[in-house]
Amino acid sequence: MKWNDVLEYKSVRYAFHIELSNNCNSQCPFCPRFLRGTPIVVPSLINGEISIDNFKKWITPEILSKTYIFNFCGTQGDPITAKHLPEIVEYIAETNPRTKLQIRTNGGVRNKDFWQRLGKVVNGRREIVFSVDGLSDTNHLYRRNVKWDKLITNMQTFIDAGGKAIWECLVFKHNEHQMDEIKQLAIKMGFADVLFKSPIGFENINLEKSIPMPVYDKNKNLDYVLEPSLNYLNSQFEYDPTYQHKEFQNESVNSCEIWPWEIPYDEWKDLEKYEINCKSHIPGINLREVYINPHGNVYPCCFIAGGMDARHSSPDVEQLRQILGKPDNYNLELSSLDNILKFFDTAIESKWGNTHEDGRCAYCSKTCGAPSPTDTDRLYVDGSKDKIIGKKPKQTHIPMVIDSEIKEKIKNSKKTLI
Ligand SMILES: C[S@@+](CC[C@H](N)C(=O)[O-])C[C@H]1O[C@@H](n2cnc3c(N)ncnc32)[C@H](O)[C@@H]1O
Ligand code: SF4
Ligand code: SF4
Repeated sequence: MKWNDVLEYKSVRYAFHIELSNNCNSQCPFCPRFLRGTPIVVPSLINGEISIDNFKKWITPEILSKTYIFNFCGTQGDPITAKHLPEIVEYIAETNPRTKLQIRTNGGVRNKDFWQRLGKVVNGRREIVFSVDGLSDTNHLYRRNVKWDKLITNMQTFIDAGGKAIWECLVFKHNEHQMDEIKQLAIKMGFADVLFKSPIGFENINLEKSIPMPVYDKNKNLDYVLEPSLNYLNSQFEYDPTYQHKEFQNESVNSCEIWPWEIPYDEWKDLEKYEINCKSHIPGINLREVYINPHGNVYPCCFIAGGMDARHSSPDVEQLRQILGKPDNYNLELSSLDNILKFFDTAIESKWGNTHEDGRCAYCSKTCGAPSPTDTDRLYVDGSKDKIIGKKPKQTHIPMVIDSEIKEKIKNSKKTLI
């Protein structure tokens, strides 16, 4: 399987993950947009967003006709901050109404006209996932800066205009008691589904334990800490609630430091005996994930995008930069999508059988090779059971977990609860 398959075979289609904007109104403590835990944007981030003109130029009607799904999410920003979001969605809906679309947002900004316009076109095969981590007294603890009343007005305006909405909630200690109430509110407002997710960010690999998540103010003083829900702890490491954070230290993996990393090929040797099972090429599913950032950089998946754009400072990313080389190889203003996909096959896929020294990508080995591939399954939790069920999204790693309980309730209530 290759990225090029999408060009060669009619049955193979694109699953685009696009970061329309890397701007955001919120300041979530574990978001790679910020120095870890602070509201300070990483100094290396260059703000950008995709205009309708660039979107049409990069995603032509021909490409759209080969697209199964768009996931407007990203690693560092929120798509509702993109000025041309409504025009872009209308272009997709008019050009290929069969293309699925998922937009993920904190929902905290924009006016009534905006949400009504989106509500008219984001329905059927198109939907918005609102990232809402609690209720009026808890959502802002993780989604810093999101104002509850404004958020509720925005979501209701969108739903009332005909929009299809999914509520996705990260479960912490401070909101786990609200899971049922969240479901009830979602039913009342007309949401189509509710998903609960176990947040990452508590694990400390150096300490080999999970610890509270620090939240700092703009002067880097500790404001408060967030604690995990012990029912849904997303880690094999035991949680130590007594751990005391001191003043801010730049522990960010998203530091912008230019570090003269030596590439530890010897350390990576062990990983070479494992096969890489690329999450972009799911066997039996004729989809190829292609990630596009606000500056037109194309990456083979969102994991690699995270490494390249969030400026993780590590030997793995250093090697990744060497493999990808100059932006001429992967930027849509400098090369065509066809050529970029062929480049991924040559520079990445064709080297998976090699040694790392001979070009095998360590980022791929660590993310999609044994013994501990990045486990996206363990993120999803079932609010009706007291355990992580690890349901895997069926077609891509774009979350599509269905909460059967709420589905049933919605069917029975036929929305008469409103
Ligand atoms: C960088 S955000 C971009 C989309 C949008 N800004 C949002 O937050 O929904 C990508 C995804 O990461 C999720 N996310 C943020 N913090 C997380 C955490 N600590 N653990 C797991 N997922 C998290 C968000 O909810 C969102 O689904
Ligand atoms: S809303 Fe999304 S992009 Fe914005 S800070 Fe939170 S996780 Fe990051
Ligand atoms: S990290 Fe590599 S192997 Fe994993 S999904 Fe991305 S391209 Fe595929």
